[in-house]
Amino acid sequence: MSWDRDSLIAAALAAADKAYAPYSGFHVGAALGFADGSVVTGANVENASYGLTLCAETVAVGKLLSDGQRGKLEAVAVVGGKAGAVGVGAPVSPCGRCRQVLNEVAQLGGTDPIVLCVGADAVLEVRLSALLPHAFGPANLV
Ligand code: THU
Repeated sequence: MSWDRDSLIAAALAAADKAYAPYSGFHVGAALGFADGSVVTGANVENASYGLTLCAETVAVGKLLSDGQRGKLEAVAVVGGKAGAVGVGAPVSPCGRCRQVLNEVAQLGGTDPIVLCVGADAVLEVRLSALLPHAFGPANLV
């Protein structure tokens, strides 16, 4: 399996289709692309107790790590929007918690991934280190 910028965005879009977001109606998909060509996706999972919601990026990281997978995280695509209108609004960038969760994987693999924040008119491309400068991570605990 291999990915490029467009297929990673397509994977995030496909993941958003599977979002469980009955409360906000805002469907998010995330796709993590690794140096070995593998891709792991996630979608947001909401809860009747609203604050327990899991974001798409966090679900993707949970799938990855709980499956025993590791690797060099090179890129992350994030897309969101109302059902039937995913990717047609402003670029969606990872929330603060998700930046920290993504940083765990990045530091494990020793990378600074590009985050592709997908919007209708533009894809914002920004390094994770720019979204989360001076990050706390695994290296702090050794
Ligand atoms: N959401 C994500 O999945 N990722 C983010 O980075 C930001 C927000 C979800 C959480 C909630 O289900 C919906 O978007 C509206 O906040």
